[in-house]
Amino acid sequence: MNLSDSFEVEQELIKQGWKKTDNVNHADAVLINTCSVRKTAETRIIGRLGFYKNIKKTKKNLTLLVMGCFAQKDGDLLKKSYPFIDLIIGTQNKNKIPELLNAVKKHKPKKAVFNQFEDHFDFMEPSIDHQAFFRAFLPIIKGCNNYCSYCIVPYTRGREVSIQSSFLLDELKKLIDKGVSEVFLLGQNVNSYGKDISDINFSELLLKISKFKEIKRIKFMTSHPKDFSDELIHAIETIPQVVKHVHLPLQTASNRILKLMNRKYTFEDYQLIIEKLRKKIPDISLSTDILSAFPGETEEEYLQTFEALRTLQFDKAFIFLYSPREGTAAYPLKESLNQKEKKLRVHHMVELQNQISFEKLKRFLHTYQEVIPEKISRKNGFELMGNSHFDTKVIFQGDESDFGKMIQVKIKDVKGMSLIGEK
Ligand code: 5AD
Ligand code: SF4
Repeated sequence: MNLSDSFEVEQELIKQGWKKTDNVNHADAVLINTCSVRKTAETRIIGRLGFYKNIKKTKKNLTLLVMGCFAQKDGDLLKKSYPFIDLIIGTQNKNKIPELLNAVKKHKPKKAVFNQFEDHFDFMEPSIDHQAFFRAFLPIIKGCNNYCSYCIVPYTRGREVSIQSSFLLDELKKLIDKGVSEVFLLGQNVNSYGKDISDINFSELLLKISKFKEIKRIKFMTSHPKDFSDELIHAIETIPQVVKHVHLPLQTASNRILKLMNRKYTFEDYQLIIEKLRKKIPDISLSTDILSAFPGETEEEYLQTFEALRTLQFDKAFIFLYSPREGTAAYPLKESLNQKEKKLRVHHMVELQNQISFEKLKRFLHTYQEVIPEKISRKNGFELMGNSHFDTKVIFQGDESDFGKMIQVKIKDVKGMSLIGEK
């Protein structure tokens, strides 16, 4: 979602005559998009701010703009602690950025913070992925009503707001006119789509989008297990354009911790969804998020999650170390492990998952996969990299004229986390 936000702002600025530069010495403005989901993301931003503080000492006309979740959450604090920031724009005001920056071009603005929650939707034109000209990001629902006890997102992105389906479909037509054939639907919880505005639900939206013959692939992220309906499983199974990959964050396999996390499902509920998905789509790719070392997580509870990774056999798992976020319900909970013990838990799970991810790729050996190449492989200038319909990276020989085309590739080998194939 952050990437999509950055692309949207960039796209609009370019439309209004701004040019992108890699060289800060040539820049009139620098925009920093921020994330607050874990402390480490904020620490990194603070490091960047130090870098730009120095630059601004000699380059007084440089406008520094900070946007995103950190700006939303701590806008006033950032203004006080880092007075050299010119504009601080929260998550709900990003559509003001072009106007504000254009004003800067004419005269130096007053330092300003815009981080109030708005009741309107700060809609900007959906953006094309910079890595692939045929893929567009389409935010369909923003914000989150779930209030998982560890998570800052409901406080930085606000409550769920869906975008009217008729409006989305109009935007999609414009994207198709620009050559888009793959659409990536985004939301903190896409399964809630439509509920707040009494519009069609997410499965119905998938079906409507699939009626556009130009759209070859539909991806979506993120799903919440508590809202993952049989209707959605059916939609994924039966709509050919829907990529056969689901990202479904588990967080932990302990029912006690799931309750403390306010996730509103049990491990058994989660297992059932995976079972149903695999029954309908045997080769489906599944990925998850694991939040390790939640306050009070015992050795036994950690091992439960470790075992769940072994039995559920995800294609990918993103394993995070719990980071206390001030203002969330879990923040006051006492932690009992030291940093070394916590990191060890993450380390063991990452090691296990790496083995599983590699082994799981082997099920595609000697099969034909439909691949849409999007870039030249980093390692070899004659090889292309694209994604299969199971959202797996595939590398094969070809040239740029293949970009964006659906190509049948025979899978010959597995290397690292990629499939190696031949057209
Ligand atoms: N600490 C660590 N990880 C977190 N996530 C959300 N909040 C936190 C936190 N406070 C993780 C969850 C979520 C993913 C996007 O980020 O696993 O699914
Ligand atoms: Fe955060 Fe939970 Fe909402 Fe995901 S569903 S954004 S983890 S509160």
